[in-house]
Amino acid sequence: MCGIVGYIGKVNAASVLIGGLKRLEYRGYDSAGIALLDGDRVTVSKASGKVANLSERAHSNWSPELFQKATIGIAHTRWATHGPPTEVNAHPHLDGSGGIALVHNGIIENYRSLRARLEAKGDVFLSETDTEVLAHLIGDCDKGDLFQAVCDALHQVVGTFGIAVISSREPDRIITARRGSPIVIGVGDGETIIASDASAIVAHTQRVIYLDDNDIAIVTADAVDIRDLDNVPVTREIAELEQDAAATEKGGFDHFMLKEIHEQPDSLANAIRGRLDLQLGSSVLAGMGSSQRELAELSRVVMVGCGTSLHAAMVGQYAFEDLADIHAGVQQAAEFRYRNPILGSRDFVIAISQSGETADTLAAVKEAKQKGAFVMSLVNVVGSTIARETGRGVYLHAGPEISVASTKAFTCQVSVLLMMALRLGRGRRYSRDEGLKLAREIQSIPSLVQQVIDKGEMIAEIAAKYLDNEHAFFIGRGPMYPVALEGALKLKEISYIHAEGYHAAELKHGPIALLQEGTPVIAVACEGPAKDKTLGNVEECRARGARILGIVTEGDHEAEDVMDDFISVPRAHPLVATIPAVVALQIFSYHVARLRGCEIDQPRNLAKSVTVE
Ligand code: F6R
Repeated sequence: MCGIVGYIGKVNAASVLIGGLKRLEYRGYDSAGIALLDGDRVTVSKASGKVANLSERAHSNWSPELFQKATIGIAHTRWATHGPPTEVNAHPHLDGSGGIALVHNGIIENYRSLRARLEAKGDVFLSETDTEVLAHLIGDCDKGDLFQAVCDALHQVVGTFGIAVISSREPDRIITARRGSPIVIGVGDGETIIASDASAIVAHTQRVIYLDDNDIAIVTADAVDIRDLDNVPVTREIAELEQDAAATEKGGFDHFMLKEIHEQPDSLANAIRGRLDLQLGSSVLAGMGSSQRELAELSRVVMVGCGTSLHAAMVGQYAFEDLADIHAGVQQAAEFRYRNPILGSRDFVIAISQSGETADTLAAVKEAKQKGAFVMSLVNVVGSTIARETGRGVYLHAGPEISVASTKAFTCQVSVLLMMALRLGRGRRYSRDEGLKLAREIQSIPSLVQQVIDKGEMIAEIAAKYLDNEHAFFIGRGPMYPVALEGALKLKEISYIHAEGYHAAELKHGPIALLQEGTPVIAVACEGPAKDKTLGNVEECRARGARILGIVTEGDHEAEDVMDDFISVPRAHPLVATIPAVVALQIFSYHVARLRGCEIDQPRNLAKSVTVE
């Protein structure tokens, strides 16, 4: 979603800010803007559309001298919430005097009443945004101390924010603050960079400070002074970033999505490495705690997440029930806190999120903690809000995922969930022999995935046959049901083909009415207890003229024979097979989207991390 970059230091701010915005493009946005301090005034350039438009606009608005001399500024990519993605609604927004500029991620929920109050005092607003209201409010509170003005304004705000503020009257500082929307401060040598995401910082410094909720910082070129909103100093550690700048570049691939699909053998190896115990047939996941006894007392697993992470949770549900004999449930995170879930200390709540910033998942974590559950996270981004909020958890180690469509995060999530279920299972009825067998299968996941990636060209040829349909169905049973849902999500989000995932048995209860001659049905029919029944459902679709693409187990001629086209994936335990199966669907969707000429890495309307409810 929206992205923030701020810079104060020794080099020209505009280049750092535009470079930072480019690194945040992957998050999804529809307009962008930048504000610089030019002597004793604030100057702003904005553009709808891409950062490249903004760069062009800034170069035509501003003289080369200004580009060279301005060493402080703030910038933003906006994903529209209040008002369409026009230039006027883009950030930065100015206060009534024009001397204060603000960029903001999050939502000011009480902006209407604040705006009415300010309008009654004579303020005139140019945009439809909640952010402009906050800019005016800061201006209204400013009695000569920008820091105090921001504190006073934020005390009046209901909602979430990550902000950066500059003022022409205090040209030596940026004020930044957060509540519910991340802010990371990169500490360089004589320069400081603020961003909503470490990707914008990593090219400049590896030393970062993560703000906590309700922290506010006075940032200068040489210092970061952090307080709470009541002006009480707080101490935050400097952390070292683990990623390097190259990880956020395409590295010769046409798209980040393709790069990330290809990275999966490595990212899976990283997610699995050191976490399997091949003596005990179990797993070693430090984030789950060291006490088997504590884990044995848990009576239920509840997984929360959204989108792709929700689909990973659904595979996890099968794993926990099958391997660990424990009740396991999945709840869409947005629904979780509003339905007042019944939870207690023996419930094991796992919050699953690639970004660690998804607002609904974060809210679910807070609710589960409130109810006294044993809460942990399964997150990719180190130091993210959900990771810090849970305090306990397992990182995926998948590396930065830049493509909006999630790929490697899903396969790493499923792998880690399998290892978690294995550990819980070994504390219950799962025997050492069974555990050893599964542990070895988990260890082989990277090579299973590589075998599917090696079929890329063949999958591209199949994809070419499925370009012209505007609708597609994905079906599966058992753990392949969430794989079907994930396949449909991948196809719809990047190719804009309307794709729906269904439990294979559910088709007959309504959706089969939509099948016509040639309607694509993608059946995930790998070997496992439910395969024969899935093949029966495939026959029902064929009888109605559907064109069937099967994801089948290598050498399974019975399954191959009922498909019009098939992609075979290596034989594996039915839970493990979900991973190569989904990789086949990722590659299929990628090529369909590529051949349809879609943008792929930044699909329309989508954002990488959804930080609003
Ligand atoms: C789809 C996709 C989204 C995310 C969802 C949750 O490809 O990426 O559905 O999975 O927005 O995001 P995280 O995992 O960051 O909480």
